[in-house]
Amino acid sequence: MAEETRPLATRGLEGVIAAETRVGYVDGINGKLYYRGFDVNELAAKASYVEVVHLLWEDELPTSKELEFLRTELIMEMNLPQPLMAWLKRIPKKTHPMVVLRSAVSDLAIYDREALEDSPRANRNKAIRLTAKIPTIIAAYHRAAQGLPLLEPDHKKGLPENFLRMFLGREVTGEEVNAIELMFILHAEHGFNASTFAARVTAGTLADMYAAVTTAIGTLMGPLHGGANQRVMQMLTEIGRPEDVDDYIDGLLARKERVMGFGHRVYKVEDPRARHLRKAAAKLCERNKECFYVNMSDLIEKKVKKAKGIYPNVDFYSASVQHSLQIPVEFYTTLFAASRVSGWTAHVLEQYSDNRLIRPRSAFVGRYPRDFTPISKRK
Ligand code: COA
Repeated sequence: MAEETRPLATRGLEGVIAAETRVGYVDGINGKLYYRGFDVNELAAKASYVEVVHLLWEDELPTSKELEFLRTELIMEMNLPQPLMAWLKRIPKKTHPMVVLRSAVSDLAIYDREALEDSPRANRNKAIRLTAKIPTIIAAYHRAAQGLPLLEPDHKKGLPENFLRMFLGREVTGEEVNAIELMFILHAEHGFNASTFAARVTAGTLADMYAAVTTAIGTLMGPLHGGANQRVMQMLTEIGRPEDVDDYIDGLLARKERVMGFGHRVYKVEDPRARHLRKAAAKLCERNKECFYVNMSDLIEKKVKKAKGIYPNVDFYSASVQHSLQIPVEFYTTLFAASRVSGWTAHVLEQYSDNRLIRPRSAFVGRYPRDFTPISKRK
């Protein structure tokens, strides 16, 4: 038997270029992020989330007419199938919202006649439905778990605002609208992050878009990815007092544990999204006159930078922003998903448009070949 040359594995695929994309570019050396070539700093300052969605899917910023058309299409698709609404009311109220979302998105395929149709038109329709319905699933579950009714979407408002008002069950202020728009813009796309890559792997088998987005939600949930924002707030509450920050962080680092919301595989300098969210968190907390967690976050940031030379990522200040928006901590990662679905679907559309099965190899390091012992002779 010829001995095959066995290359070493690249752990965590670090630095591996897995495919070409035109959707997003993370420049980790310079701390820059581009959606379809546009600097996210400029999009955060000048665009709305629905403009960003159009950009991600169509590779162009929309005209006013195109923007209004897409906004309307999205709001019209925010309704949920009745059996799914009934299920959301029936499930145990303590179920983690990401578990609910993962199941509900898979369930949506049951009610979409185009679910398994593989045409550009059907796929675009599915991208719209997923981007519109995921925020509603999150809001509906939050309301149902408290035995409260869900507001109807307001056809005059944008998608992020509709999400927040439906989630909170009340009209929201201008400051809250600005904050939720910013959150949705900044979380929409991030190159070949783990969940997007997972979505592309699934799409690469030519499985349907619901399958790809369900995969992505499962991947986002982990604490090393989107699940970090929930862990950040848990850490802040666990620390409890600003004077305990130093000891707590020293303890984590001594035990070689991770400080949640810090570090990044690609960024070697500050994550540009963290800068926007730090500012937004400060603004919101000043308005609410409750800056306890923002002040403590500032102390943690200084301490971790000094001790490890690493910076906050998108999830660190997302926790304080969401706290100010009155989002319960267990829902934090669902907000990430509510926005990132636009990026996932943009990547899935790109994958379908020029598909090749994604199938890497592994470096087998086990024993082989081995002799088979009949069960009667095994000890
Ligand atoms: N807390 C403490 N140390 C950290 C750290 C963190 N959050 N992130 C990275 N490091 C340290 C590692 O301990 C290691 O240090 P060492 O060389 O002294 O051992 C070094 O930085 C490199 O870490 P590594 O595990 O190789 O980085 P990675 O690219 O595999 O991990 C993350 C990237 C995001 C998974 C990692 O930074 C992390 O776990 N962060 C916390 C979770 C988080 O916020 N996730 C959201 C990402 S947007």
